[in-house]
Amino acid sequence: LNQLPVIDTDVIVIGAGIAGLFTALRASETQSVVMVTKKSLLDSNTRYAQGGIAAVISEDDSPEYHLQDTLMAGAGLCDHAAVDVLVHEGPLGVEHLIQMGTQFDIENGTYALTKEGAHSQRRILHANGDATGYEIVRALSEKAIATPGIDVWDNHFVIDLVTDQGICYGALVQKNNGERLFLRGKATVLCSGGAGQLYRYTTNPEVATGDGVAMAYRAGANIRDMEFMQFHPTALCYPGAPRFLISEAVRGEGAYLRNIKGERFMQNYHEQLELAPRDIVARAIVSEMEETKSTFVYIDITHQSEEFIKHRFPTIHKFCLDYGLDLTSDWIPVAPAMHYLMGGVQTDLNGETNITRLFACGEVSSTGVHGANRLASNSLSEAVVFGKRIVDRIEALSPLQDTPSVVYTTNRQPHAMQPFVERRLKLQKVMVRYTGLKRNRAGLQRGLDELNRQRAIFDTVLMEREEFEFANMLTCALLATTSALYREESRGGHYREDFPQRDDLRWCNHTIMNREQGQL
Ligand code: SIN
Repeated sequence: LNQLPVIDTDVIVIGAGIAGLFTALRASETQSVVMVTKKSLLDSNTRYAQGGIAAVISEDDSPEYHLQDTLMAGAGLCDHAAVDVLVHEGPLGVEHLIQMGTQFDIENGTYALTKEGAHSQRRILHANGDATGYEIVRALSEKAIATPGIDVWDNHFVIDLVTDQGICYGALVQKNNGERLFLRGKATVLCSGGAGQLYRYTTNPEVATGDGVAMAYRAGANIRDMEFMQFHPTALCYPGAPRFLISEAVRGEGAYLRNIKGERFMQNYHEQLELAPRDIVARAIVSEMEETKSTFVYIDITHQSEEFIKHRFPTIHKFCLDYGLDLTSDWIPVAPAMHYLMGGVQTDLNGETNITRLFACGEVSSTGVHGANRLASNSLSEAVVFGKRIVDRIEALSPLQDTPSVVYTTNRQPHAMQPFVERRLKLQKVMVRYTGLKRNRAGLQRGLDELNRQRAIFDTVLMEREEFEFANMLTCALLATTSALYREESRGGHYREDFPQRDDLRWCNHTIMNREQGQL
């Protein structure tokens, strides 16, 4: 057993998407901050966000409308108080982003606003047309690098949280060269994003392996609503191309969905047509794909002018062109892909978890804002609204008292493990097949059995990043599949073929899993 070296700071931020960058920047105004990220500042889900950030800016809009839209999309499972916070504090969050250097698109002297699915108003700010996330990451990361109070540790992997008797003291960190240390702080903020890599088809980058949820679970945090996965309806589906996001804003600007016979079909599924809530559009697409025995449907915006499309969606236009598809004149083949994890580490309205001094912000968290189905573009606003609240709370924390020392073994017995690329692929296939868009008891039970066969990794001494990532993915997959099997109804991002109706009498409540209480 090795006694680990200790490095002290005030605030530890784990992750470098919008939640991590924003929280680090605000905290650095009064505290020392170490921001740890397993790759670079440019590797996060935020970077790929296209549509934008939802906030009540227009005079035609009101927090009440935003609240109602969010509750409606959330299918009865949103926490009303958390949504109230989001819709009232969102505009201030956007103002902070602008002060930090983010340049949102302006039209006729005012911020340009677009619409996305299930929004009753135009309330989504965007940047460079369809590159909102990239612009936010650009502005905030430039500022973070230039801020002396923030120490950025890129290419550092957080193995586990350091907790003792329900208090978090920091994190066990592994450098790229394998050296380990105990990073100690009076507050630790998980901003480590989602778990899109649980699925074979995802809009998320490789880093989205659910590390934060898994390490919080190991530490005894409450993990909530893991069965609610959001599948984005329209990811590019073309041979040789990745599942690149075709933003909902494309439908917001009037695009149609057509099946492979060329017929529009959303009128058969929902009165809001192509702008119905995401879960409904995604399932409608799958039904059409099944009906027509196709692996895709089309998105068609060719009725808009070429000039408008190129100006409004330059990133999507360029990306598709690289594969010989022209958004201005071609129907683009698309299919649903895993996009966003609604569940995560349960927090209160200040982002605080049930573990003292441990906070969670952004996709890793479950603040109660998203319910069973996130309203488009609410995630970026959630990160800044709750990031600010977390920092306000941290400022009131006393310094750490007695801290535990951390010992760690790296002494593993030689053993033959199946290569992790293969294990990861297998897990992704199991998740697509059994815990995907449509689920049923027999399939979920089968998925659980297959996942359980991989459990030996939990009793193995792990050394490499890919091993830790796989263990984290397996933990999240088990949590999601167990919750999905338990919930015998259909709601938002959780659809059970054997229980197709929403059942408010029995199931209008959250699924909470906690390791101390014996689950998993
Ligand atoms: C999109 O642009 O469609 C994604 C926006 C989001 O996921 O909120």
